[in-house]
Amino acid sequence: MKGIILAGGANTRLHPVTNVVSKQLLPVYDKPMVYYPLSLLMLAGIREILVISTPRDTPKFEALLGDGSSLGLHFEYAVQERPAGIADAFRVGRSFVNGEACALVLGDNILYGHSLPEMLQRASAIKEGAVVFGYEVHDPERFGIVEIGPDKRAISLEEKPTAPKSPWAVIGLYFYDHQVCDVAADLAPSARGEVEITDVNRWYLEKGLLTVEQLGRGIAWLDGGTFDSLHEAAEYVRILQTRQNWRISCVEEIAYRMGFIDLEQLRKNGERLAKSDYGQYVLDLANGESEGGR
Ligand code: TTP
Repeated sequence: MKGIILAGGANTRLHPVTNVVSKQLLPVYDKPMVYYPLSLLMLAGIREILVISTPRDTPKFEALLGDGSSLGLHFEYAVQERPAGIADAFRVGRSFVNGEACALVLGDNILYGHSLPEMLQRASAIKEGAVVFGYEVHDPERFGIVEIGPDKRAISLEEKPTAPKSPWAVIGLYFYDHQVCDVAADLAPSARGEVEITDVNRWYLEKGLLTVEQLGRGIAWLDGGTFDSLHEAAEYVRILQTRQNWRISCVEEIAYRMGFIDLEQLRKNGERLAKSDYGQYVLDLANGESEGGR
């Protein structure tokens, strides 16, 4: 399965901070925001990844992430000329996807918690249909909401409903089979002029092919779309990392633990960053692993 990180958008809720740089490059405590969604794709076992951003910022993502080889990954880059909708990722990314199954993650989605890797790997193993992730929220009127039936099948999808049928919000992480680019190509724009990911999901729903993975209370879902949520996400990461001495979404560690890179590459990656606490963590991990790990 391939993966796309959609990291463009207007980011108007973070003006003036995002006047010259896209929010997905801003720090969430000790690492760029885009590392968090990238970690999700890596934990799902996905190694071929397309990063889509704005004409202004795509070169910056490329400067940050490179070709992916130091993480045992393969990165490609594509420009979205204007924020034409989330489903537009499968139009911009059509030649990259090349008729295969593909996951999509929004560049500002942060997930952390117990049993997440297993859930992600289950989703990336689908042969037919689509998998979305539901998160129970207290204000469903603000979200895209999915109603869930037996066997995790989706029964209905509603956008910001006034009378929600369920508390399960659909988050910005989606896994699709090989049909997804054709589905996205056929969509008409919505009233707000965007090609909507909900319409892609509805296509799978109507065929009985939409499954929902429910994220339980052991998993945190954060995003960096507003000043408050960005600050809260940074604080969450800082507190957990300080208490537990594990880093959240350290892509070098994930690459090593997933078997994408060897110990020598892990050490090289750590040495390149060694003046920061983040780099020191990578280096300590490499040294600890050569002594048997923890
Ligand atoms: P939104 O929340 O719709 O937009 P935003 O956060 O960029 O803008 P604003 O602050 O003005 O509300 O987008 C969700 C995520 O998807 C976000 O990471 C940006 C990204 N996105 C794109 O990259 N391209 C698009 O066409 C759209 C609609 C979103």
